[in-house]
Amino acid sequence: MLYPEEVIEEVRLRNDIVDVISSYIKLERKGKTYFGLCPFHSEKTPSFSVEPVKQFFYCFGCNKGGSVIQFIMDIENLEFPDALRFLADRAGITLPEPEEPKERENARQRKKILELNRQAARYFFSLLAGSSGLRALEYLKKRGLSDRIIRRFGLGLSPGGWSELTDYFINNGVSPELLIASGLSIKSAKGNLVDRFRNRIMFPIFDIRGDIIGFGGRVIDNSQPKYMNSPDTPVYNKSRELYGLNFARRSKSSKLLIVEGYMDVISLHQAGIDFAVASLGTSLTQMQAWILKKYADQVIISYDADAAGQAATLRGLEILEKAGCQPKVLIMPENMDPDDYVRKNGPEKFKKLIEGALSLLDYKIRVQKEVHSSDTIEDKLKLLNNIADILATHENSIERELYAKNYAEQYGISLESLRSEILKRMRRKQMSQQRRITPGSYVSHLPQIDNRYGELEYMLLVLLCNENRLYQVVSSKYGLESFKDRGARKAAERLYERLEKNKSCILAELLNDLDTSISSYLTQLAATKCNAEDNERAIKDVLTKLEILHLEDLQKETIEKIKNERDGIKRQELGLEFRKRAERIIELKEKT
Ligand code: UTP
Ligand code: MN
Repeated sequence: MLYPEEVIEEVRLRNDIVDVISSYIKLERKGKTYFGLCPFHSEKTPSFSVEPVKQFFYCFGCNKGGSVIQFIMDIENLEFPDALRFLADRAGITLPEPEEPKERENARQRKKILELNRQAARYFFSLLAGSSGLRALEYLKKRGLSDRIIRRFGLGLSPGGWSELTDYFINNGVSPELLIASGLSIKSAKGNLVDRFRNRIMFPIFDIRGDIIGFGGRVIDNSQPKYMNSPDTPVYNKSRELYGLNFARRSKSSKLLIVEGYMDVISLHQAGIDFAVASLGTSLTQMQAWILKKYADQVIISYDADAAGQAATLRGLEILEKAGCQPKVLIMPENMDPDDYVRKNGPEKFKKLIEGALSLLDYKIRVQKEVHSSDTIEDKLKLLNNIADILATHENSIERELYAKNYAEQYGISLESLRSEILKRMRRKQMSQQRRITPGSYVSHLPQIDNRYGELEYMLLVLLCNENRLYQVVSSKYGLESFKDRGARKAAERLYERLEKNKSCILAELLNDLDTSISSYLTQLAATKCNAEDNERAIKDVLTKLEILHLEDLQKETIEKIKNERDGIKRQELGLEFRKRAERIIELKEKT
């Protein structure tokens, strides 16, 4: 283990699973359990459950399950130590230095890179403020930025030579390896270190905490490439960062606006629209969508209106919707980006655009209308068929009906015919879905288990987690050597060890030590087969069933022995043994 058990436990305890999961998906309480739409497979009715008392989650649809740490590993795509760090941060816990040397080294490296970035940002900032920064500063002023906003976003200027920044750091004792790892320097073809950013306006990229994790750099003239960005480094992963979120998350607005570029964010913030963030040129990722969901009730996309922007918008909308965001689309006049618009028309007009943002449905239909004019019958037919396609995938039946009515009127067809086209499509989709969700289609990540003992042995462990006080009884009747399933025995070793130390152990704790396939399986059992009120009774029941299996195995052995035994007396003895055991088995079977 990287960290002492107590530390992992504290992180788990201070991150209530219902709170954590609620920040990703909407949960509704039904009795003791919370339910929601599973974030790990696509579904229309909630089969994802969260148990507040036992602190685990489990999806009945895809069988994923585990503790809050597993949830973060899965949803944020993190390894265990990173998930732990993530949750520790969330709860404001400072983790001790990791015990594992490699992990400790990584943590140190990250710290060093952040410090280096901070110094670099300071260097860039002072260059912009100094005499060599006049031209760049003038450029920024021409683009309408105030001194205040330049300072707030920490803008700067990178030096013009080949390796001024690199040399500066090398002279200050920074190692070449660190300079490369940070992305600030690159090795040239000749093998010497040079600056990545030369004579560019520098945009530091902050994370939520305000640490500088990377940079973007823009040319001051029209040369190419327009922007250079830091590569992914141990502190920067572009698929999860959102530029400006460190400011936007403090906005009073419950909205977030996603735009494309650095300049859009800065310009909007200056205009008082302080909930803008940028996905930085790449298309929106699922991870970014989840992060956005954490901070906003409503997410509005405002990408370019060109074809590429339109495609990115549609993709972004789907991703946001999957994350449960109810996204909207802000339509910009052609050939303008948010920065251009707000500078030309002012914040009030821009806010009007936000108010008029389109829902996903409106946007999809609008795109169709642009593709198919309705001049000819053929075009009209295509358009209406596409509208039927779109409406058929829309969940809200009232909205579906209203839209259908609207379009039927608009194109002079009867509501009935449009309605029947929509229904036809919905039915078709339902049928193909039913075909897909056959039992066993999700079992891929379940562990290999012994087909006779496996389930019962794992159940025993789950039940024992529910009822620690029965440890003595269980371990004396079913010691580690009794376990036939290898995975279950390993898990039992962990559990027995904890309980031996007189410590309690709930399922969520046990799960932390196990492979994900096994922890999913255990949570599946916990949610489906080990959720009766009376744990004691259930444990006795499982123990009895296991005893029967063991006895039946002994019977088989005895039969073999009888077959091979030449000595008549010994054969009789074996026969007696067999009969006695058979009676015992019958007796036990009656109990269950
Ligand atoms: P844009 O070309 O729309 O630039 O790219 P912009 O942000 O509006 O900048 P100005 O107004 O021309 O100064 C949008 C975003 O795409 C990424 C950057 O993050 C940029 O902000 N991008 C663009 C790059 O990473 N590299 C490029 O060469 C161009
Ligand atoms: Mn722009």
